Amino acid sequence: MNCIGYHPTRRLRAWGGLAGGATFMVIWFFWLWGSAPGSAPVPQSTLTILIWHWPFTNRPPELPGDTCTRYGMASCRLSANRSLLASADAVVFHHRELQTRQSLLPLDQRPHGQPWVWASMESPSNTHGLHRFRGIFNWVLSYRRDSDIFVPYGRLEPLSGPTSPLPAKSRMAAWVISNFQERQQRAKLYRQLAPHLQVDVFGRASGRPLCANCLLPTLARYRFYLAFENSQHRDYITEKFWRNALAAGAVPVALGPPRATYEAFVPPDAFVHVDDFSSARELAVFLVSMNESRYRGFFAWRDRLRVRLLGDWRERFCTICARYPYLPRSQVYEDLESWFQA
Ligand SMILES: *[C@@H]1O[C@H](CO)[C@@H](O)[C@H](O)[C@H]1NC(C)=O
Ligand SMILES: *[C@@H]1O[C@H](CO)[C@@H](O)[C@H](O)[C@H]1NC(C)=O
Repeated sequence: MNCIGYHPTRRLRAWGGLAGGATFMVIWFFWLWGSAPGSAPVPQSTLTILIWHWPFTNRPPELPGDTCTRYGMASCRLSANRSLLASADAVVFHHRELQTRQSLLPLDQRPHGQPWVWASMESPSNTHGLHRFRGIFNWVLSYRRDSDIFVPYGRLEPLSGPTSPLPAKSRMAAWVISNFQERQQRAKLYRQLAPHLQVDVFGRASGRPLCANCLLPTLARYRFYLAFENSQHRDYITEKFWRNALAAGAVPVALGPPRATYEAFVPPDAFVHVDDFSSARELAVFLVSMNESRYRGFFAWRDRLRVRLLGDWRERFCTICARYPYLPRSQVYEDLESWFQA
């Protein structure tokens, strides 16, 4: 079960003490509950989720009324129309725009009791100004598993249909890097690995950018992908791991949160973790000297699971509706900064 990801973690913690089998029953029960349109606690009226800033753009995408239906959520409308502030069931504020535009929150127009959602997929190292938002937000949408609305960058889902063949491998290790800074842990590790391992470096920082459509076919030719996060934080596992490695068909060499965090999302034998080695040299020797049957073992999951990338902000926001009936009504993040930096 673990490798499917997406547990209602917070609720399970509150129900603590349940044994494994019972836990599974609880998940199954809530899954049924949430997916059966006629069953009791799912609100039948359409929820309106107002997105105050669409992330990273001034131009929100078209948001037809059935936007969330394609993600399995009916009765859920996303809108970027700020005239709906007075009536929206929840309002989402994406952190980057609050941070960079020093935007003012519409506090004086906030209807009493309206839930406000703080949304960000960036790591604490790249998140500034949170001290300004004390006692404002009720729910958090992020990659952190203890978020009210938990939205990982990807997950494994049961595979229906045949396993796709593993791409042919002709190269050793690849790394895509757009922002190379020597002080970052990933830069240090790369410097230590490079003398012992053939690493082909792509991306803006290397002068070899890859076009969007070239990314996966290029990385597919590599045995390993250096899935090095830009900073190491709780649960911070990004598309570097899910897309550039797993979806491309390369074995991730993970630098990020501890191995146990990755194992909450994927089987333990699906990736290499840098913490498993006492030196970069030892890691390089392991990668280079691996025989073919050992290498194939990293892909055992592909017989029964497939990668689903969750990079679309529409899907992330539609998740709010799926969680809505279960979200705490009277909760306020008094100290969002301490919570997020923890
Ligand atoms: C925004 O919503 C208001 C109120 O429902 C509506 O009158 C207006 O036409 C909408 N604007 C756009 C651009 O859809
Ligand atoms: C391949 O390597 C694994 C692990 O090092 C070892 O257990 C296995 O016997 C090797 N297989 C072959 C065919 O050499």
